[in-house]
Amino acid sequence: MEYQRPSASAQPEAAPGASAGALMIDVRGLCKVFGERQVLHDIDFSVKRGECVAVIGPSGSGKSTLIRCLNYLETPTSGTIWIDGKELHGQLSPAELSEVRRELGMVFYNFNLFPHMSVLANITLAPVQVRRASRAQAEQTARELLEKVGLKDKADAYPSQLSGGQKQRVAIARALAMNPKALLFDEPTSALDPELVGEVLKVMRGLAEEGRTMVVVTHEMGFARSVADRVVFLDQGRIVEQGDPEEVFRLSPRGRSWPACAPAIWPAWPPRSTTSSTHLYLAHRQCRRDFSRRGAEKVGQP
Ligand SMILES: Nc1ncnc2c1ncn2[C@@H]1O[C@H](COP(=O)(O)OP(=O)(O)OP(=O)(O)O)[C@@H](O)[C@H]1O
Ligand SMILES: [Mg+2]
Repeated sequence: MEYQRPSASAQPEAAPGASAGALMIDVRGLCKVFGERQVLHDIDFSVKRGECVAVIGPSGSGKSTLIRCLNYLETPTSGTIWIDGKELHGQLSPAELSEVRRELGMVFYNFNLFPHMSVLANITLAPVQVRRASRAQAEQTARELLEKVGLKDKADAYPSQLSGGQKQRVAIARALAMNPKALLFDEPTSALDPELVGEVLKVMRGLAEEGRTMVVVTHEMGFARSVADRVVFLDQGRIVEQGDPEEVFRLSPRGRSWPACAPAIWPAWPPRSTTSSTHLYLAHRQCRRDFSRRGAEKVGQP
């Protein structure tokens, strides 16, 4: 495939081919088993073109496994995944797999930059080697992307000379340099000192606002609430809740007012850490249970 230079400001191009439809990512009946343990149960999950979906849930619920299955970093045990209309399956050749992977930019919590390479070299490596871009073209794009993520003057720095927030912004620029159809983030701010989280979220917010297709596994509830188009709650390998962030975070099933336990968790809003988001989630589940029970009692059901 010919390298298409990503624009630092323009919206990503719509994928060619009417058959791809409105969905960039479509997952049906995804199951993943590690040894004896099933960690994903029959997941149906889709992401529209230009949509930003936040995946949240307690530790161990399968968020990373789900996002890693999307680009076959984990091989699903069963189920089907379509990326921009192309079906992924276990029989894909290495070349086909790498073609799919280059369409999905992945940003990990630990940056995964090459420590012995400059920022510019980190960003240009894949476009030159995989997309066959010319070095001059790749460097020009890299500089534009560095400007976009607020690191114009760091092209010649090495990762060890950067803060965590700067490294993560370089990692985002590196993902963008491949002009991916969608960006997958796995807890991009979880390894950062609290004061550095904002600068990364700001870049991600900008990407969402310009219409990038994004799946963001995150414990940043404020981000999920204010930036995501949709929030997906995963618990024990199942999607137990999903929808409009305001609806999901209102913790109010079927439009009823706040249940009694709400004030107890509200002061912690927005939770920053894994622990507090887990508490929030568990409180959310408890609220729903209490609510359905009380609601049922009211209308005289068992
Ligand atoms: N390669 C693996 N081999 C065996 N078990 C695994 C493997 N990867 C993940 N698991 C298990 O699968 C379950 C889901 O893990 P996963 O990393 O997807 O959870 P998570 O929701 O991302 O959690 P966290 O919020 O802590 O990152 C966990 O119980 C984990 O121990
Ligand atoms: Mg994880």
